[in-house]
Amino acid sequence: MYADRINSLPPYLFATIDRARQDAIKKGVDVINLSIGDPDMPTPPHIVEAMRRSVGDPARHRYPSYEGMLSFRTAAAKWYKKTMKIDIDPESEVLTLIGSKEGIAHIPLAFLNPGDVSLVPDPGYPVYNIGSILADGKPFKMPLLAENDFLPDLDAIPKDVANKAKIMFLNYPNNPTSATATTKFFEEVVDFAHENDILVIHDNAYSEMTYDGYKAPSFLSTSGAMDIGIEMHSLSKTYNMTGWRLGFAVGNKDILAGLGKVKTNVDSGAFEAVQDAGIAALSGSQDCVRDMNLIYKERRDALITGLNELGMDVKPPKATFYVWVKVKGKSLDFTKMLLEKSGIVATPGVGFGEYGEGYIRFALTQSVERINEAVGRMRKLRIE
Ligand SMILES: Cc1ncc(COP(=O)(O)O)c(C=O)c1O
Repeated sequence: MYADRINSLPPYLFATIDRARQDAIKKGVDVINLSIGDPDMPTPPHIVEAMRRSVGDPARHRYPSYEGMLSFRTAAAKWYKKTMKIDIDPESEVLTLIGSKEGIAHIPLAFLNPGDVSLVPDPGYPVYNIGSILADGKPFKMPLLAENDFLPDLDAIPKDVANKAKIMFLNYPNNPTSATATTKFFEEVVDFAHENDILVIHDNAYSEMTYDGYKAPSFLSTSGAMDIGIEMHSLSKTYNMTGWRLGFAVGNKDILAGLGKVKTNVDSGAFEAVQDAGIAALSGSQDCVRDMNLIYKERRDALITGLNELGMDVKPPKATFYVWVKVKGKSLDFTKMLLEKSGIVATPGVGFGEYGEGYIRFALTQSVERINEAVGRMRKLRIE
């Protein structure tokens, strides 16, 4: 009944984990869910209020423009200038997305012919791989290994693969490893992309979720990056807006035009009232972002201290709300044991690709009290 491309999709492990979580809740277990990358705090009130005002305006009830309202794209360009110090033309170098997942899933349709290679990080956000498969492309996994600080080794990509590759996905600050990229690495990527005629899609969904004074660089600030790349941004994590579905892509205008052409034919843009809320988020006070980062930092420190006391060797991440932990044995067995014996849900690293095996991911989407409770339960298990 299903097309080969659907049959060839890897099993969606996260759905299985969620079922196990729900079964545990039904049995009355006090589950502590540290698996989900969805902020537990509400969208800041000034953003909600902007939506409330906009939704009553009948002009907002019609089909939006395909590329997004110019006012939203202008707010995105100004935000980019302020946070990344890069000049962006709102008319041609910004495209509104219905969440960045949508842009990531659609971009292979614009640039891969059947059999063309896309370079995808492993472990990685699953949509790079799946979007490539849905476009009949051939994803080639770039392992993210601890010994390389979870950056892909570009020299390890075989020459014939690089020749056949059309696009490369990257994501720093990284989900799931929480690694960050150096500007030197981005320079190597730009050289590699120019040499091999590859387009770079940098997913910067966690650019603002940073700690201890760390500032995540934009890929586009690398010399030559604008010629070969775009960057995807999301309002989801920065402003606790996962449910609203709003993001944007910036960068090379020809790449954006390709993505825009796909989108024009498959969707009809983001609800304009949501874009108005997005304008409030991007152009309003950024204190809410700072405040949320302080909360995540406190949670990070509670979890890291707890895990290290349990004998695990975990370094505090400089960015993202994920903690990537090496465990003994298979990651799925470990997370099953955690849920069954202590009611804690974590994500097995193998769900992000074969090179995620041997790790689990905790998300800092619970209060310090619940994180401490989780650490206490793990202590009873004598995990290390
Ligand atoms: C690395 C990464 N990129 C993109 C997304 C998708 O975000 P959005 O809500 O903008 O679709 C996520 C969500 O978890 C993510 O982790």
